[in-house]
Amino acid sequence: MNDWIDISIPKLGGNEIKYLKDCINSNFVSSIGPFINQFESLVAKEIGLSNQKTVATSSGTTAIQLGLHSIGVKQNDIVIVPTYTFIATANAVSHVGANPWFVDVESSQLTIDPIKLLNQLEKNSFQENGSTYHKDTKQRISCIIPVYVFGCPPNIDLIKKISEEYNIPILLDSACGIGSKYKNLKLGQTNLPGIISFNGNKTITSGAGGIFYSNEIDKVDKVRHLSTTAKCSGKYDHDEIGYNFRMSNIQAALGLAQLEQLDQIIDKKRTIHNNYLKELSDSNKFNFIVDPSWGLSSHWLNAIFLKNENENLDNLIQQLRRFKIRANYFWKPLHLQQPYRNNLKVDFDSLGDIQNRILVLPSSANLSSNDQIKVIEVIKSYFKS
Ligand SMILES: Cc1ncc(COP(=O)(O)O)c(C=O)c1O
Repeated sequence: MNDWIDISIPKLGGNEIKYLKDCINSNFVSSIGPFINQFESLVAKEIGLSNQKTVATSSGTTAIQLGLHSIGVKQNDIVIVPTYTFIATANAVSHVGANPWFVDVESSQLTIDPIKLLNQLEKNSFQENGSTYHKDTKQRISCIIPVYVFGCPPNIDLIKKISEEYNIPILLDSACGIGSKYKNLKLGQTNLPGIISFNGNKTITSGAGGIFYSNEIDKVDKVRHLSTTAKCSGKYDHDEIGYNFRMSNIQAALGLAQLEQLDQIIDKKRTIHNNYLKELSDSNKFNFIVDPSWGLSSHWLNAIFLKNENENLDNLIQQLRRFKIRANYFWKPLHLQQPYRNNLKVDFDSLGDIQNRILVLPSSANLSSNDQIKVIEVIKSYFKS
C-alpha cells in the first residue's frame, strides 16, 4: 500500500470489478460491447444531453482532434488556445495540421480572458466571405478552444459573443470539467461541442479515455465515424481516412462504474475544497483559486497561488514531501514550451512566472479528513516559520 498522500488518484469503490469481470466473461474486451453504449448514454444524461449525443474515444486528446475535424478545422488553419492549459490541447490542434495561436488567461481563474481574446482578434485579424483570417499570415482562424482549468468553467457567454462576431466556432476543452457548471448549465447544456477526459488522474476515470459531446447530431456522427476508421459497411468499405480512436469495452466498463459514483465524488471534491478554504484562505502568503462569479468549478484539483514572486516553491514542495505529501508544480504555459515557442507571438503579461507560483494540493476523492488536516498543518507551519 502506498502511504503517500497523493494529488489525484482514482476512487474505485463501486461496480468496477463486477463490470470488468463481465467484459472477460462475455469476451467483449475491444471497441465493440455493451458497456460502450451504456457509458455514452450515462455520460450524456450526466451532462444534460439526450442519448446519442456523445461518442466515447480512446482519450481526451483524440476527442479534441476528432472534435476539430467535426467543426471543419483544416490543415494550416489557426486555432485559438489559451496559453494556460495542458499541452494536449495544443497537440491535438497540431495533430490535425493546424497551428495553435495562444491567448492570455484572466488572472483569478486562469481561464481564457475574453477581453484579451477580443483585443487580439481586433488587432490581428480581418474578415472576408464570412471567415476570419490572421492579418499577417492570411491563415483562416477556424476554432476557439476555451479550457476548464482545475475544473473551473471559462466565461462562456462572453466568448460566445466574440465567436459569433468573428464567426469562429467554439470547442470546449472540458477535459477536467465533468461536474462543473457554467451559470446553472451542465457541460452539454451550454449548447457548445466539447470533450471530457477520463484519464487516471481525472475526477472519474476509465483508465484512459474521452468523450466528445455535442447537441448537433452531424458533429457527433462525424466523430463516431472517424473514430472507427471511417468504416461505412460490413464489407471493409471506408469513405475517408479515419482513425482507430474508439474507446474499448473494458475502458467503458470501468468508466461506467465510476460514473455511477459521480455525485458522491463531486460532493467529496467540494468538501475538500471547502476545508482548504476554511483553513487556509486567510493566509497573506497565497490566494486560493475559487469558484468564478459565472459558475461552479468541479474542483477537480485545488491549487494555491503564491503572492510573493520570491517565495521558493521548491522549498515548500520539499517540505510537504518530507511528510509524504505529494504536492506539485502545475502546467507550464504553452507559449514557453519547446514545440510552440516560435508560434505567432502575443503578450502574456498576466502570467509572469506562473509556474513558480502555483502549487496543486492533494485533492483525491478518497482523501481522508486526517490526511487533509495533515496537509493543512504542514502548509500553515511552513508559512509561520
Ligand atoms: C485541459 C486538458 N486537456 C486535454 C487533456 C487530454 O486528455 P487525455 O489525457 O485524456 O488525452 C487533459 C488531460 O490531462 C487536460 O487536462
